[in-house]
Amino acid sequence: MGARALYSVAALAAVLAAAAKASPEGSSSFGTGVSAYAFDDAAYSYCDAGYPVSQGYSAVPDAKLELVQVVVRHGDRTPVNLIPDDTTTWNCNGIEENIYLHGTDQPEKNSTGSFKQVIEIPTWNKKYGFSNQVWRGTCDVGELTDRGKAQHRLLGSQLRGVYVDKLGFLPSQLNGTDDIYVRTTHIWRTKNSAESLLGALWPERSISPEAAIPIHTYPEQIETMYGNTGACPKLTAIAAQITNSDQFQDFLRSQGPLMAKLIGILDVSGSSWRNSWDGYVDVVQTRECHGLPLPCSDRASAGTSTTPKCVTVEDAAQVRRNAHYEYTFKFRDHPLSQNYTRLAIGSLIGTLRDQIQDHIAGKTGSMKLALYSGHDSTVAPLLAALQASNRNMLWPPYASNLVFELWKKTDGSRLVRVIYNGQVLKLQPEFEWCDLNACPLDKYYKHLEKYIPTEIATQCASN
Ligand SMILES: *[C@@H]1O[C@H](CO)[C@@H](O)[C@H](O)[C@H]1NC(C)=O
Ligand SMILES: *[C@@H]1O[C@H](CO)[C@@H](O)[C@H](O)[C@H]1NC(C)=O
Ligand SMILES: *[C@@H]1O[C@H](CO)[C@@H](O)[C@H](O)[C@H]1NC(C)=O
Repeated sequence: MGARALYSVAALAAVLAAAAKASPEGSSSFGTGVSAYAFDDAAYSYCDAGYPVSQGYSAVPDAKLELVQVVVRHGDRTPVNLIPDDTTTWNCNGIEENIYLHGTDQPEKNSTGSFKQVIEIPTWNKKYGFSNQVWRGTCDVGELTDRGKAQHRLLGSQLRGVYVDKLGFLPSQLNGTDDIYVRTTHIWRTKNSAESLLGALWPERSISPEAAIPIHTYPEQIETMYGNTGACPKLTAIAAQITNSDQFQDFLRSQGPLMAKLIGILDVSGSSWRNSWDGYVDVVQTRECHGLPLPCSDRASAGTSTTPKCVTVEDAAQVRRNAHYEYTFKFRDHPLSQNYTRLAIGSLIGTLRDQIQDHIAGKTGSMKLALYSGHDSTVAPLLAALQASNRNMLWPPYASNLVFELWKKTDGSRLVRVIYNGQVLKLQPEFEWCDLNACPLDKYYKHLEKYIPTEIATQCASN
């Protein structure tokens, strides 16, 4: 309820007018107050992203598809923030991880099904156990759930509908692995998401060791698929500047009572719970997507009889809207957002750009599809760098999918099409730098250039 009032129509009109005066190639900041942000998420679901549908899909006329790059968020997962004495049950019985403990020096050993991983959460034993720190059930923290796996299978079959069945661009059966490049973060759920997607994109595959699809990961310390604060201390410094800005502090103050209530119920502490909605959106959305009860605490009601005891559905909706605002402000709308987004995701943007260039130069062999499986913190800064519209900046739902298609026209020119969750990506009306249904490649490069670091190590050094 109260949430709607925060984003007043008059204030929005004022910000649009102010933004219209700004040069499209200039600063990406609105430079206005928090009340200006109208995050209408009425037709939005955090729990399930849209996806490409073959019936609604049409090829670019007079052009040939050359390369498809797909960046996804992992599917539905268990929470990553824990609440002590949580009695919720999470089950991940349908997820099996086969573990290959021997190396390729023993190819004669059939590795399939040799071992499997089982998450064990023992009954809490106060004397020598810690298991009251986590829920009940069979899931690891931040593990892809059966729902999450199904979301990526669905996405894989939809991509098959478009790129195999409709366009005949990808082979109907994978012969060897030269047609694809796959990269995930080092985190289990993004690997499992990629496996689920590819398993449905090519359902009939041999399981011989030679047909195994390489899933490339960087070690955590050098990860570039999200803002790597370990490798890039400057990110933390810029984040602090953004967080300490008057606008963001006004925003936090306006939401202070809700935050205080949640801190009481969840019994959490630390600056990340005071400066960001990230943890709260994890706590409430994971539960909402499974129809599980929102957290309650007897602790919070101990003071007065009027203090609510539970996180309500309205609280959860406001947490989500706050999270939309926070991501958009940090990655897209603060005067330092360009710096922040460049250091957070610019390496990946550069990698995607170079891959297109290498492809055009004939250096990528028969590769047709590149899949990058990451996180909300992969997809959101990419969208921000593209200057996505407010609606497209809503927190990336589970299994969000950002597709970059490279097309070659019969006249030899090249175009990029960007499709987000099944729709051509819409830009902010006041920063419409290209039509992403068919953006000339040079224009596309020119826009991305300011988000690609020239010397990341130097630029990341904090000072
Ligand atoms: C490996 O194991 C799978 C599953 O049991 C089986 O289908 C396949 O034929 C085996 N391959 C070899 C080379 O033994
Ligand atoms: C895949 O490879 C097999 C054996 O090498 C061959 O018989 C088949 O025609 C190939 N299929 C495609 C679609 O290239
Ligand atoms: C932001 O990036 C620009 C280059 O685009 C640079 O000149 C400036 O120093 C950076 N600002 C901060 C605070 O890092």
